[in-house]
Amino acid sequence: MKKIVLTGIKPTGEPHIGNYFGAIKPAIDLSKNSDVKGFFFIADYHALNFIKDAKLLKELTRKIACTWLACGLDPKKVVFYRQSAVSEVTELSWILNNVTSKGLMNRAHAYKASVDKATNEGKDEDFYVNMGLFNYPILMAADILLYNAKFVPVGLDQKQHIEMARDIAKSFNKTYGSTLVVPSELISESVATIPGIDGQKMSKSYNNTIPLFCDETQLKKLISSIKTDSTSPSEPKSLDSAIFNLYRLFASQEQIETMARRFHSGIGWAEAKQELFEVVNAYLRPMREKYNYYMEHYDEVEKILDAGSKKARKIARETISRVREAVGLE
Ligand code: TRP
Repeated sequence: MKKIVLTGIKPTGEPHIGNYFGAIKPAIDLSKNSDVKGFFFIADYHALNFIKDAKLLKELTRKIACTWLACGLDPKKVVFYRQSAVSEVTELSWILNNVTSKGLMNRAHAYKASVDKATNEGKDEDFYVNMGLFNYPILMAADILLYNAKFVPVGLDQKQHIEMARDIAKSFNKTYGSTLVVPSELISESVATIPGIDGQKMSKSYNNTIPLFCDETQLKKLISSIKTDSTSPSEPKSLDSAIFNLYRLFASQEQIETMARRFHSGIGWAEAKQELFEVVNAYLRPMREKYNYYMEHYDEVEKILDAGSKKARKIARETISRVREAVGLE
């Protein structure tokens, strides 16, 4: 029996280097193991909560689809699909609503952050909360449970959601007998926090990201804008700096050792940034070319997604029929 591994990305923005090393790459690496059956998707139903413009949602969906492929996902080996192409997930989500306590949802970080924001602004606590946000973790549980996934590789920010999916699966099984596979999160520990251009954790909400597929000129500009300290060129530089921490993600072991020696003996920040640009660009160039190819030949991607959705639907239907029977709808 192969291990079922599943993960999704919501199409709500441009993927950046932090997303790549924190979530995309570890998941794709995992999918290459011969004992793994992977399910990879674009969480477009989830995106509805953030993107209220049809054209933009389509565009962002395209970008995430091309990102998965450009980063090396092999659609022959994994099931690669659009979440909304398998609408069975909404049925499962509804059924799961009935075994999920409101108290569990009250504890969700994203919901709590919205409540805090409103409260701080002196507004009603639910001012920013619609039911799509409140029920977000239940739809996510449905994503996972529909495909019998055992492992869900995600960035640390999603850990709580997987714990909730686990609680929901257990609650269903307790009520109706063992029906759903209870999942676990897989958080890749090897990657420490990825610094953004201001030295803080790279995150869309800090506005400090380096997009994965920006063009060379923008990449260079962003790398030169990385915040550095005021040590003069001849002084030793800290290895615990944004520049070095980014460098080690992209460079070979040998390059890292050489650069560490140069940091110890003193290197100008401008030169260090140039070296960083070189390794980042060499690493990303082939991926960027693939990305641009798929963006320009999106019909090919659509075919791949349609084929994937067909495979996904087959499994989804089996689960839904098992669940309908368990609860007495069939
Ligand atoms: N919520 C995830 C994110 O914001 C995306 C997602 C939706 C997901 N459904 C999922 C991830 C199921 C893993 C499994 O990144």
